Amino acid sequence: MSPDDFPWNRWSEERARRIESVIDRFLPPATEPPQRLHEAMRYAVLGGGKRVRAQLAYAAGELTGAEISIVDHAAAAVELVHAYSLIHDDLPCMDDDVLRRGKPTCHVAFGEAVALLAGDALQSFAFEALAGAALRDSGQAALVLAQAAGSRGMAGGQAIDLGCIDKALDLPELERMHRLKTGALIRAAVRLGADCGQAMDADENDALLRYALAIGLAFQVVDDVLDVEGTAQSLGKTAGKDAVQRKSTYVTLLGLAAARERIEALRVEAREALSPFGTRARRLEELAEWIVVRTH
Ligand code: IPE
Ligand code: IPE
Ligand code: MG
Ligand code: MG
Ligand code: MG
Repeated sequence: MSPDDFPWNRWSEERARRIESVIDRFLPPATEPPQRLHEAMRYAVLGGGKRVRAQLAYAAGELTGAEISIVDHAAAAVELVHAYSLIHDDLPCMDDDVLRRGKPTCHVAFGEAVALLAGDALQSFAFEALAGAALRDSGQAALVLAQAAGSRGMAGGQAIDLGCIDKALDLPELERMHRLKTGALIRAAVRLGADCGQAMDADENDALLRYALAIGLAFQVVDDVLDVEGTAQSLGKTAGKDAVQRKSTYVTLLGLAAARERIEALRVEAREALSPFGTRARRLEELAEWIVVRTH
């Protein structure tokens, strides 16, 4: 049986394993000086993480008939930016977390200065990984990733997140924050994966964007719910942090039941957006289903 015919779980595991070895090959070895920095980079990216963004890139690549060896670069690039964002998100000046992916956070293991640099270097490395791909338009790909990571994307969303402690956001503001801090990179994962294959027409691009917007928001709403319902053991990160830090989340604003309703509505939206694609979108559809029912 080839990965194309795998049931969902096996496909997902296969792609998660694949991206692990791709990133392992891309990153400098831990023996290369400055060793401590390279060790910290590898520590933060390898050996953990659900690899949702990489899987989205692979799934979107399948939609457009992309060669998987090209998608490897796009998938690695988004996972590298994501890992960088997590290192910085966990720093004492941000969420001050000690547990990530079931291990001590990067700054706990390596000190704040090295962790900060590891985050910086991973972000640069992401663009290096992208530049190594035989893409139709590498300038456009770099732009997509840069915008997703920057002040109009993830970094901007993180700034809103930090600015809203003790200051309740209203629903549109909260949604905007989620769409930026988490949605932007998820959208980029889908876009970059799709752009590794055949170009799509305007309607198809719109449909794919609608899908990515829905699951990008759903992903963070689920994260907010899991912060309340999960445990450190199941999540591999500290649970209950948002309440302790008095963050505005979907749960604090709407309550658990309404947050779950919102997740369900986003699941339906994602599925409907994919309908014009038929079976080519099978993995994207399975990913959307998994994102909303996940428990970690
Ligand atoms: C955690 O992301 C941070 C958010 C953007 C919600 P993930 O839940 O994808 O974390 P990993 O990669 O699996 O550790
Ligand atoms: C993090 O959101 C989003 C980014 C890292 C960009 P959270 O702060 O909710 O993520 P967790 O819960 O620490 O993984
Ligand atoms: Mg945070
Ligand atoms: Mg956090
Ligand atoms: Mg969270």
